[in-house]
Amino acid sequence: MCYHSRSMTAAGRIEELRAEALSAVASADTTGELESARVKYLGRSAELTEIKKSIRDLAPEDRKTVGAASNRATKEIEDALAGRLDRLSAAEREERLRSEALDVTLPGTPYPRGSLHPSLRIIDEVVDFFVGLGYRVAEGPEVETDYYNFTALNIPPGHPARTMQDTFFLDEGLVLRTHTSPVQIRTMLSQEPPVYVVCPGRTYRRDSDPTHTPMFNQIEGLAVDEGLSLSHLKGTLAAMARQVFGEGVKVRLRPSYFQFTEPSVELDVSCFNCGGADPNCKVCRGAGWLEMLGAGMVDPAVLEEVGYDSERYTGFAFGMGPDRMAMARYGIPDLRLFFEGDLRFLRQF
Ligand code: DAH
Repeated sequence: MCYHSRSMTAAGRIEELRAEALSAVASADTTGELESARVKYLGRSAELTEIKKSIRDLAPEDRKTVGAASNRATKEIEDALAGRLDRLSAAEREERLRSEALDVTLPGTPYPRGSLHPSLRIIDEVVDFFVGLGYRVAEGPEVETDYYNFTALNIPPGHPARTMQDTFFLDEGLVLRTHTSPVQIRTMLSQEPPVYVVCPGRTYRRDSDPTHTPMFNQIEGLAVDEGLSLSHLKGTLAAMARQVFGEGVKVRLRPSYFQFTEPSVELDVSCFNCGGADPNCKVCRGAGWLEMLGAGMVDPAVLEEVGYDSERYTGFAFGMGPDRMAMARYGIPDLRLFFEGDLRFLRQF
């Protein structure tokens, strides 16, 4: 074959390949198809590539024309590929954005609403009341040492008052706290007077019947300052009772006994349901009064134990059971319902 005709054949073939490639590029509908076209027409084993490699075998005068033609074709195909790629990727991005679009105006999936546990409602109200008076909230551990739970509260080892508490004993020297009163001790040891704290928390006793559960809540309160007396205690707790049970309720103090207070009292609230008038009242069972809490003036021995000057400072303390208060308020007959986690019960509040 003469060089002339070889070069003509090559140039003609380049022209055919160029046209084929451009139409393949133009008709590629995806970036994937476009890539196949690139490989087919410009890839390592593409025919055009082969032609370029064989240029050095051509007669010198043909090299120029075939080389120029193949370069032009290559450049044109590359430009077409780049242009098409821009258009296709823009379209694909559009499509992806469209298919992933979220309509933020659609209504959401409703999420079931919870409600506050009845004990927690009382705890919140009581704590809110005291925080409003300037009290601070203090907390302590549920696994407590024998010292904080008993000894520091004037209940020494071997004292009969210990057996009244149905204690869960853990390892040597540790108990599940039987009341929140140890938080009084921890608070006083960590700061100087004046002290005004409320201490809500879980407490534990070995007890289980309709009005006792092995775990129950308490709220402890402690005020230590100069010049505090029993009338401050009564005024404070009466105001709290009115807030939680209603403006109309009255309170009365009955003498009582606690190891860590002297004198000790129990505080009753007039029945918020019948006002003391209904002998068949379901809430007070005709008693007219509801027992609400234990309280008293902090025993000077307790103040001395934490290093407070009991000549200068006096204090009052109280401990109440928010679960019992919730039973009264909501007319719930069995305390055990509170801790079974039955949603049918909890949803009623
Ligand atoms: N800790 C007592 C109990 O669990 C309740 C109590 C009574 C707390 C008198 C006090 C208090 O702070 O002064 O039965």
